Amino acid sequence: MKILGIETSCDETGVAVYSEPEGLVSELLYSQIRLHKEFGGIIPELASRDHAQRLAGMTQKVLEQADLKMSDIDGIAYTLGPGLIGALLVGTSFASSLALKYEKKLLPVHHMEGHLFAPFIKQDIEYPFIALLVSGGHSLLVLVKSFKDYTVIGRSIDDAVGECFDKVARMLDLEYPGGPEIDRLAKMGNSDQYKFPRPLLQEGLNFSFSGLKTAVRYKVEKLNDQGILLEDYIHDICASFQEAAIESLHHKCVKACKEFNVDNLIISGGVAANTRLRALFSDSKNLNVIFPEFKLCTDNGAMIAYAGYLNFINNVTMDDIYSPRPRWDLNQLCKESSFDG
Ligand code: KG4
Ligand code: ZN
Repeated sequence: MKILGIETSCDETGVAVYSEPEGLVSELLYSQIRLHKEFGGIIPELASRDHAQRLAGMTQKVLEQADLKMSDIDGIAYTLGPGLIGALLVGTSFASSLALKYEKKLLPVHHMEGHLFAPFIKQDIEYPFIALLVSGGHSLLVLVKSFKDYTVIGRSIDDAVGECFDKVARMLDLEYPGGPEIDRLAKMGNSDQYKFPRPLLQEGLNFSFSGLKTAVRYKVEKLNDQGILLEDYIHDICASFQEAAIESLHHKCVKACKEFNVDNLIISGGVAANTRLRALFSDSKNLNVIFPEFKLCTDNGAMIAYAGYLNFINNVTMDDIYSPRPRWDLNQLCKESSFDG
């Protein structure tokens, strides 16, 4: 069985084919970072146009790479949401046109369900698990008891953690996206140099990152007022900020695993590429921490193809599959999906 996956929720165009039993047989990813860099963030209009320009060519190439034709494909998976409305519309229209022309099954995928199962492209799924999904738009803790039994048990009450990395990076005149830059610079810094808050540490399972962001802003302003050069403090600021953010995530994950008596912890989404996060979580005793491969942490077509495959084999059906959903709660997905199982 072969599923074509199409991801266009934000600024990455991803196309891939997941095949059972071979696994991932072909994938292409185009990041629009260079396009948006000069604006310091994503321009939705430019993102949509770029997806539209690339999708057909990338799909053709992905099929060629695997020596496949559209007639070999069983289903077309695409990101229905959440994400940027224009970008989602491009992917949804492209996928549904292909499905119509070649009479294929359409498989709408929730972007976060893609991240949730990304590590399992390469290894077997063991339920139950807790997932920490950390990206530019989301910071979610999810209890996964089985396929389509997902409960969001914690979320950020303000900024997503990736968004916080990007905003702090901007304060430090670093290029977009800031997460990888902070990660790189923090390696040369002292994380004990500045003491930043770990908001909501003692309360529940929700996260908060806007207070941390503001604390960094005040510190940077103070250092500038004191005439200290950016190059003299940037490494320590990056390391101290990163430590506060990662420790907050770690603390809540350990708490959630204890509370729900679960050992398996999946960490996925763009921020899961962070090297300090990987080191801290990998050292956690009593936890079986599972990361996707580096290239599957950020948005990609492979995770959509794989989530589409899971939806296909479980015969998932949903209403309203042609209307992209810029906002779409993961809890809602479970309520509205019916399937065999
Ligand atoms: O999952 P993703 O590619 O797109 C969204 O769905 O948002 O995540 C992108 C986010 C950005 O905020 C980026 O700065 C962050 O992931 N990110 C990182 C690292 N690599 C990407 N944050 C911290 N450290 C990294 N190494
Ligand atoms: Zn994502």
